[in-house]
Amino acid sequence: MPSTKYLLVAGARPNFMKIAPIHRAFSSKRNGGSPADLLLVHTGQHYSRNMSDDFFRDLSIPEPDINLEVGSGSHAEQTARIMIAFEPACLEHRPDWVIVVGDVNSTLACAITAKKLGIRVAHVEAGLRSRDMSMPEEINRLCTDAISDLLFTTDPIADENLRKEGVVGEKIHFVGNTMIDTLFHLISRARELPLPDGFIPGQYAVLTLHRPANVDSTDRLALILGAINTIAERLPVIFPVHPRTAPRLKALELHPHIRIVDPISYLPFLGLIAHSRMVLTDSGGIQEETTVLGIPCLTMRPNTERPITCEIGTNVLVGTDPRRILHEANMILDGHTSSGTIPDKWDGHADERIVDILYNQPLRPPCLVCA
Ligand code: UD1
Repeated sequence: MPSTKYLLVAGARPNFMKIAPIHRAFSSKRNGGSPADLLLVHTGQHYSRNMSDDFFRDLSIPEPDINLEVGSGSHAEQTARIMIAFEPACLEHRPDWVIVVGDVNSTLACAITAKKLGIRVAHVEAGLRSRDMSMPEEINRLCTDAISDLLFTTDPIADENLRKEGVVGEKIHFVGNTMIDTLFHLISRARELPLPDGFIPGQYAVLTLHRPANVDSTDRLALILGAINTIAERLPVIFPVHPRTAPRLKALELHPHIRIVDPISYLPFLGLIAHSRMVLTDSGGIQEETTVLGIPCLTMRPNTERPITCEIGTNVLVGTDPRRILHEANMILDGHTSSGTIPDKWDGHADERIVDILYNQPLRPPCLVCA
């Protein structure tokens, strides 16, 4: 009997830590004698060494079986290029399932392509909602969830979001967080790495900024960095700069205690946040990682699709008003912090739950469109 065939898709930096444990869980099932055919697809949405290759190395992800090499472009260009390149890959390999993760353009493009070919789609990290339709990721999340056959969620709030949108209960599986699987897998190695010269554990902040709403306008970026300049008077800041942010940074003046560096790969970055006093960010995943590490996090956005990190974790949504950012940073520096608690099922085993559920899906004859 032929084994079930899966295509596991990754495209952009935050996808890589989400697919690594799923790939590993499939491999250990196979080593245990359960057959499955898994091919890894890299769309090439991110392609630079420090946005992609370094992550594959740190996360021990093997070379992709298929690389679509789509590169950058406008949203329509990038999404369309991924769909055009992914369709022939699906037709050639005829998977039973396409597994997509997260909320980037690759997630949406591959989900739509597969679904229109009659291939079943599983979405890992389903049900997150910021309710902010100006975020491209929110559109990707809504559309991907609407057409997926299996929805793997990271917390009960996501389950509730999906149910309110009319998704039937059998599709939804609360499994935990594969990004946190990766964190637990690698944290002890990450903690042992040396910090960049001059940085002392517990005595610096980490800053990341890459949301279009924050970095595509010099005025908005200047406002945020004005607050960071003031924080830097009390605490040195390390700022790994995303390629989207770099061009606009040149026009701005930064405090000498802010160290600008290139994007940092997974292991040293995890080590950097694990040893930090606080993190200031507009990232999604970092809100989750800091919650698990018990590191205070100030999220410089008006909303979050990950409210559980604010409700029980260490995350505070501060928006982009410099006074609010400063106030909350000073609170942390004055010792007013709580270590929070780790959300249920963020225990390092979401990958196994996902693969078990996939293995238990009923077999179906090949889809008509592919046949
Ligand atoms: C994408 C995701 C975002 C995620 C972020 C993490 C979407 C809609 N956005 O945003 O959700 O949080 O990745 O980084 O999918 N570039 C490089 N090298 C690369 C990739 C990009 O230099 O390997 C530069 C290019 O100039 C590109 C720009 O960065 O135009 C932005 O890249 P893009 O993938 O379009 O969006 P991100 O801002 O990275």
